[in-house]
Amino acid sequence: MGTPIKVMFFCLGNICRSPLAEALFRHKVNERGLTDAFHIESSGTSSYHIGEEPDPGSQRVARERLQLDISDQRAQQLKSHHLDEFDYLVAMDRSNKRNAERLGSASILLLREFESGDPDSLDVPDPWGGGAGHFERVYEIVDGCTGSILDMIVDERGLG
Ligand code: 4NP
Repeated sequence: MGTPIKVMFFCLGNICRSPLAEALFRHKVNERGLTDAFHIESSGTSSYHIGEEPDPGSQRVARERLQLDISDQRAQQLKSHHLDEFDYLVAMDRSNKRNAERLGSASILLLREFESGDPDSLDVPDPWGGGAGHFERVYEIVDGCTGSILDMIVDERGLG
């Protein structure tokens, strides 16, 4: 297998939405036997939560829905070097995307552009400080979209 395909999911804090995207995408990659073909990370455009583990709401929904323990993930800030190094950069909302575009000139994807059907918004709603239902909603959106993104990359890279 050649150089791993580098995929970066990012939001604002890297404690709620993008840690779930990272975990769900990695889970799907593993299920498809593509573990060694990918290098997957997540980050936040802010420095607010650097070094922290995922929000309890994200940890809970990952555990309840998929028996996934994401407590080892640690928040990091998205930096301009990531834009040069990663093959696919995926923003959780349009504001995060605009923030990232100020760091460099990479092409940046918006997660909900990969939603099947008609999304009610192009933004993954920020669940921070919200109840379990907010994290469930994020899970549903991120689950569907990360599957579609993986399908696209598998196609583009001839991994199928
Ligand atoms: P995230 O959620 O961007 O999905 O990790 C947030 C986490 C923290 C803050 C905002 C959103 N905050 O303002 O600290």
